[in-house]
Amino acid sequence: MRKTVVTLSLMITCSTALIADGKTLYKNCAGCHGENGQTKALHLSKAIAGQSASKTVKELNAYKKGQLNAYGLGNIMKTQAETLSDSDIKALAKYIETLK
Ligand code: HEC
Repeated sequence: MRKTVVTLSLMITCSTALIADGKTLYKNCAGCHGENGQTKALHLSKAIAGQSASKTVKELNAYKKGQLNAYGLGNIMKTQAETLSDSDIKALAKYIETLK
């Protein structure tokens, strides 16, 4: 019985890790950037939908390090980017590139 519980919780953990893709991660961004990346965050940023993945990777890494502050609100994006791993950033960038 105990073994079954352990196995089950392991399975749940693994499947959650697998679906942590760009689309899922992007849910944390949609509040400001819009469900399809079409919103100018806080009326300031560009609409990020469809921008190249390499550009997004560069921007997110720069925000993460506190080196980007395009409109005076870089700190907001620093807080967002700080929680993202390299693979999260790549997955997000790829997903954003597919948005229209
Ligand atoms: C609380 C609102 C908020 C959330 C949530 C948020 N952003 Fe932002 N984002 C902003 C603001 C404000 C800026 C402009 C910051 C500045 O002054 O450089 C910005 C800028 C950006 C830019 C650069 C766009 C440009 O105009 O140069 C990218 C790319 C970006 N965000 C991606 C993301 C991603 C990916 C997420 C989710 C992990 C996210 N953002 C979550 C508010 C937010």
